[in-house]
Amino acid sequence: MITVRNVSHRYDKQVVLNEVGLTLPVGELTSIVGANGAGKSTLLSVVSRLIKPESGTVFIDDLDVQTAGDDAISRRLAVLRQDNRISARLTVVDLVRFGRFPYSKGRLTPEDHRLVDEALDYLDLQPFRDRFLDQLSGGQRQRAYIAMILAQDTDYILLDEPLNNLDMKHSSSMMTLLRRAADELGKTIVLVLHDINFASCYSDHIVAMRDGEVIVQGTPTQIMRRDVLREVFDMDIHVQDLNGVRLGIFWTTGAPVGPGPLAAEAGDTTRDEDGARRVAEPASITIR
Ligand SMILES: Nc1ncnc2c1ncn2[C@@H]1O[C@H](COP(=O)(O)OP(=O)(O)O)[C@@H](O)[C@H]1O
Ligand SMILES: [Mg+2]
Repeated sequence: MITVRNVSHRYDKQVVLNEVGLTLPVGELTSIVGANGAGKSTLLSVVSRLIKPESGTVFIDDLDVQTAGDDAISRRLAVLRQDNRISARLTVVDLVRFGRFPYSKGRLTPEDHRLVDEALDYLDLQPFRDRFLDQLSGGQRQRAYIAMILAQDTDYILLDEPLNNLDMKHSSSMMTLLRRAADELGKTIVLVLHDINFASCYSDHIVAMRDGEVIVQGTPTQIMRRDVLREVFDMDIHVQDLNGVRLGIFWTTGAPVGPGPLAAEAGDTTRDEDGARRVAEPASITIR
């Protein structure tokens, strides 16, 4: 379990974390959501000891992250930062091998090579394994970073905006893979996500931050409500239930509601959180 207690932090005079307290249970997938500047990355940096907070403590199980050794932490927790500053003149496979560094110190065992290969397989990266990072698309590079994190094979995985640059297919396979890592391997996974619908569909727990504070947390059903989302994001998001999964519609203001005939399968429920059933006009499509 990760336990954050009374964590506060300032940059200059700006308070970016204000008395944050949080427990992240083992084997669960937690998504952290919130507007730009809410303090999500700073919180992840504090948990992974990239930043020392002004006050407060963080424990990973029995390890106090402020006093534990580097090796002890990096065998327990892997973190993907939002901005990677890793040299571009590195091949994909070499990057992923870095994930094994806390164990191998550069001398890889057959077990290390196996884990590196497995991570490359998982992320569809075998065709690119010998390419330099600057010869990849943004999404391929993002997958290479995530492969490095998976190769580290830690019980705790923190990913700051892991879906950045990923196309729809790789985004959903990434979320499926992380969900499986929680369900089948008991990994504890904490993600910063901007897409509330991925958060809703794949998380056990959603933590919502605003202005340096955790303002609400709960199950996807508890968080995916128009009133809660308005508080978190300061915008009106229409919420619908689709076969038990809550989805937020936010692509247009005054969102058109209800899946029309082109979107709905037989048996879909199309009620919003007020219980009202709404039917959209059939969409018209122009193919050029
Ligand atoms: N190194 C820094 N120096 C000064 N201010 C920073 C620094 N990093 C982040 N901030 C500020 O702290 C606030 C929280 O940032 P961050 O944790 O990155 O938010 P989020 O990840 O939720 O978008 C923002 O207002 C941001 O401008
Ligand atoms: Mg951030």
